[in-house]
Amino acid sequence: MKEKTGYGTAIGKIILMGEHAVVYGEPAIAIPFSAARIKTNIIEGKGSVILDCDLYKGSLFNAPKRLFGLVYIIRKITEDFGEELKDFNINIESNIPLERGMGSSAAVSVATIRALYEYFGKNLAKSNLIKLTNISEKINHGNPSGIDSAVIIGEASIYYLKKAPPMALGINLDSYLIVADTGIPGQTKEAVKSVKRLILSNPQRGKSLIKGLGILAKETKEILKVKDSVALGRLMTEAHQILDELEVSNDTLNHLVNVARESGALGAKLTGGGLGGCIIALASTKEEAQFISDRLLANGANNTWISYMGVDKI
Ligand code: MEV
Repeated sequence: MKEKTGYGTAIGKIILMGEHAVVYGEPAIAIPFSAARIKTNIIEGKGSVILDCDLYKGSLFNAPKRLFGLVYIIRKITEDFGEELKDFNINIESNIPLERGMGSSAAVSVATIRALYEYFGKNLAKSNLIKLTNISEKINHGNPSGIDSAVIIGEASIYYLKKAPPMALGINLDSYLIVADTGIPGQTKEAVKSVKRLILSNPQRGKSLIKGLGILAKETKEILKVKDSVALGRLMTEAHQILDELEVSNDTLNHLVNVARESGALGAKLTGGGLGGCIIALASTKEEAQFISDRLLANGANNTWISYMGVDKI
């Protein structure tokens, strides 16, 4: 008899504008990031389910806390199908380091849900995929806005407001985005909690910073329509300053943002949850992007990627 297998894949994401503020109902803009890819393979096994990924290899039941969201949905899907949680193994591969603000936790869930549905021979409706991914994200991050799952599942740029359907945003800018990894794992859950603490301790200041990020996201949407890369760069730098005031940046992120700007970037900011992870910078030409990327690598970045913004997907 042919062995049962299941395969699922998912790409990453980059938040262009509005991280953190989106949790409080402000708009944000996210772009699919196809340089990051997660692949989940499920094959038949014997006994306990073995999970094999960058963070852990061993029995699903002993997986570390960071994987509880994933473990929960694996268990839920299996039980919902009336199957037993045994006799299969799950292998998750990622071509990017996990926890870098590129949406890896949502992407791991999406790839694994897709693989499980294929393994059990079931059709997966998009609405169900979104629901299951958000359950896992809630366990991982506490209070996710849903932007990561929306852009990763939709694989297209979106203007996103919590609890509203994502709005497709065709981005076609004649400029280049540089993504630079600090090499330090981001801490989305911690960062989201610390923003909440800041808002609770000083509601007036906290809310005004969040509102400021929302205004920048709305302006970005308009600027993307007129394809003004210089203005986008300026807004990115302004957003970074607010994120720094929200205390989700750190010395390493600020250093890379400054290196990018001193090397001629039109603007730069952290992307995603912060407290580690990546920065993004904008450049007018491929040569300038390459120069900025080289400077970032020479000044502490662990890795960089360059993407043309002239097509929807980066
Ligand atoms: C994480 O990629 C983006 C945050 O805004 C959290 C969220 O929206 O769930 C920091």
